[in-house]
Amino acid sequence: MRIIRTSGEMQQTALTLRAAGRRIGLVPTMGFLHAGHLSLVRLARARSDAVILSLFVNPTQFGPREDLGSYPRDFARDAALCREADVDILFAPEAAKMYAPDASVYVTEEHLAAGLCGAARPGHFRGVCTVVAKLFNLCLPHVAVFGAKDAQQLRVIRRMTRDLNFPVEIVAGPTVREADGLALSSRNSYLSADERRQAPVLRRALDEAERLYRAGTRDAAALRNALQGIIAQAPAARIDYIAVVDDETLAPVQTLTKPALVALAVYIGTTRLIDNTVLQA
Ligand code: PAF
Repeated sequence: MRIIRTSGEMQQTALTLRAAGRRIGLVPTMGFLHAGHLSLVRLARARSDAVILSLFVNPTQFGPREDLGSYPRDFARDAALCREADVDILFAPEAAKMYAPDASVYVTEEHLAAGLCGAARPGHFRGVCTVVAKLFNLCLPHVAVFGAKDAQQLRVIRRMTRDLNFPVEIVAGPTVREADGLALSSRNSYLSADERRQAPVLRRALDEAERLYRAGTRDAAALRNALQGIIAQAPAARIDYIAVVDDETLAPVQTLTKPALVALAVYIGTTRLIDNTVLQA
């Protein structure tokens, strides 16, 4: 596995791979890898013959009071996991090598990014879109794989790819969960033992939404109330948002007539976790 630390070397290498007819698969990550990331690597491997995993804790997608400084990092462990997973190139630039000190161009998506996590974390998706656009330009992937757990991010990136004509196929990897239903996330490492016991409440709430939907409930407020009731059973939980939105437009829905995304952001103690499910007939 080759480790690349600079944008220039990454882009040159990607150009060389393309000239040799190789199909490039990209898995963008912020590191502290877990089984969810490794499942994305497998999807990239199945669709390409040169897999690049980018590891970059992107400062532009963190708000001033968010966890950029404390975001978990373990480069040696991540590199070992990438080797085991048969990653070809680990692209791990430093922030100073990714953004010019006077960088002044950003990518914004102005519709899908407005609500949900975009409302709770102003500027977050501008940072995500900007870094993903840069990663596309540096790694020149044919295919890029993103986790379905970050439901809004996935939809925003698909829209950016379409609207800016990036010749990249976007593939979604299913959410990988612990045995008790907790979605894997690097941020789970922040949870205390007691919070960890309570955290599967997100999945339990989504299970209830799925059960109610199968039983015929189509009223979004009824679904939200049921989810709220379940989350309230966990003393460490504080709801940031519970949203029932159109799966395509992310516009709030009152009555479910088309596929709907049920998305949750819940603080367990001080750790903000997200999860979601899509309800469709
Ligand atoms: O999902 C993530 O880990 C990040 O938002 C991403 C896509 C790597 C961009 O920094």
